[in-house]
Amino acid sequence: MSQKRIAIIGAGPSGLAQLRAFQSAAAKGETIPEIVCFEKQDNWGGLWNYTWRTGLDENGEPVHCSMYRYLWSNGPKEGLEFADYSFEEHFGKQIASYPPRAVLFDYIEGRVKKAGVRDWIRFSTAVRWVDYDDDTGLFTVTVHDHAKDHVYSETFDHVIVASGHFSVPNVPQYPGFESFNGRVLHAHDFRDAREFAGKDILVMGASYSAEDIGSQCWKYGAKSITSCYRSAPMGFKWPANWEEKPALDRVEGNTAHFSDGSSKEIDAIILCTGYKHFFNFLPDDLRLKTANRLATADLYKGVVWVHNPKMFYLGMQDQWFTFNMFDAQAWWVRDAIMGKIEIPSDKDVLIADVEERVAREEASDDTKYAIQYQAEYIKELIAETDYPSFDVDGATDAFLEWKTHKSKDIMAFRDNCYRSVITGSMAPVHHTPWKDALDDSMESYLQN
Ligand SMILES: Cc1cc2nc3c(=O)[nH]c(=O)nc-3n(C[C@H](O)[C@H](O)[C@H](O)COP(=O)(O)OP(=O)(O)OC[C@H]3O[C@@H](n4cnc5c(N)ncnc54)[C@H](O)[C@@H]3O)c2cc1C
Ligand SMILES: NC(=O)c1ccc[n+]([C@@H]2O[C@H](COP(=O)([O-])OP(=O)(O)OC[C@H]3O[C@@H](n4cnc5c(N)ncnc54)[C@H](OP(=O)(O)O)[C@@H]3O)[C@@H](O)[C@H]2O)c1
Repeated sequence: MSQKRIAIIGAGPSGLAQLRAFQSAAAKGETIPEIVCFEKQDNWGGLWNYTWRTGLDENGEPVHCSMYRYLWSNGPKEGLEFADYSFEEHFGKQIASYPPRAVLFDYIEGRVKKAGVRDWIRFSTAVRWVDYDDDTGLFTVTVHDHAKDHVYSETFDHVIVASGHFSVPNVPQYPGFESFNGRVLHAHDFRDAREFAGKDILVMGASYSAEDIGSQCWKYGAKSITSCYRSAPMGFKWPANWEEKPALDRVEGNTAHFSDGSSKEIDAIILCTGYKHFFNFLPDDLRLKTANRLATADLYKGVVWVHNPKMFYLGMQDQWFTFNMFDAQAWWVRDAIMGKIEIPSDKDVLIADVEERVAREEASDDTKYAIQYQAEYIKELIAETDYPSFDVDGATDAFLEWKTHKSKDIMAFRDNCYRSVITGSMAPVHHTPWKDALDDSMESYLQN
């Protein structure tokens, strides 16, 4: 029998986890399939691969990056550490708990450089279309190689979609946006908080982007922050120049009017209104349509496309856990493809699995429950593979402590430190409080 061919779409943390999973099996002497990873950017790292660009990239592709300058991890690194590659192994010492983007990029890159998988990736190659042929049982993947300006197709036995879901912005329209005399931008296009120094800004939304972009603007000198929520306020103890308002009703000139009848003069509007699961390279019968939630629609075990179990998705859940969850998924998908894990042939069984996950997620809207739910999911997957087992409950504890630290002081939670569940050592307290640490370079962060 000829060797199976596997296509992986995307070389962000999820796609890289998949490459590392296959490489680790090869390193143990197993025969692995041929792996081809298509990445539309010219480097790996996904969202962590920062660019100053917004809109379209140098090839006319939509810019993938939603990260911005001065972004620090918004959760403790002890909640995401790779079980097979610790922070101490990478940096040669334990580091503080909320690394800036560049530091996490370096860590992500360190593991795959060591694994030597870069040659499996075809960079600057955007996937245009994927088709499945019932007769041959193969997928045809059509791509555009921008370096050669060449469009071509190849066939594969399996396709793994790892293209992320925090890149295509959800952009609502509110009355008056069209005649507002200032910038209206989505978080996806936000790059440098210094642009808003001295300005009165309105941040729309009540989730992580609203909290973090508002905090960035506060840190880098915005005159005032107004945030507004549709469902529920973030409810932190905000600094004196930050006010939380209910939903925006309309904008007239430079005045924002809110649903409680109050209003505010503003210079800029930043829409922190979330992202869409968006796969413009997939036909209806292969395309995931889901809300951003823990129990993703139509994915058996959170990864297998129930309507065609030869196709897999990684990292499509809403994320408390990130890198270690992508690893758990990637090792599981590898073993399913290599025949070490059996996927039930009865579609009803696959659908029942999804329904059970949905019901269990919906049993509570408590945050602690949600974090533990995702922790249980990771445990479930890693129990079925040789991914190094680690103290998932310990990582959960770091998240629970993080929640407490945030409610105590939203502008100081990043000054806390936690214990690694991989090496057991305690992170040092960072040398400078987050609010005073204006230089987010790796050199500066590692000076502990
Ligand atoms: C602003 C922001 C901040 C975040 N901060 C944190 C944080 O502090 N800590 C944390 O753990 N997580 C954070 N996240 C969550 C983030 O989702 C994960 O850390 C991680 O990047 C997800 O990895 P991924 O590989 O699934 O997706 P991505 O990182 O989105 O990577 C997907 C890759 O697929 C490629 N791709 C997409 N479409 C195509 C195509 N058609 N053809 C070829 N290639 C394609 C992209 O170029 C990209 O490289 C943040 C997310 C956002 C938006
Ligand atoms: N520093 C960091 O590490 C950092 C920074 C930013 C983001 N992130 C990550 O990025 C990911 C995405 O976070 P996100 O905050 O962008 O998205 P999100 O969590 O999906 O939240 C979207 C927000 O937009 C609101 N919203 C949606 N449509 C709206 C509308 N029409 N009008 C008003 N409000 C609307 C939602 O309100 P409802 O509640 O009413 O639906 C919600 O508050 C997360 O994984 C997060 O951790 C990390």
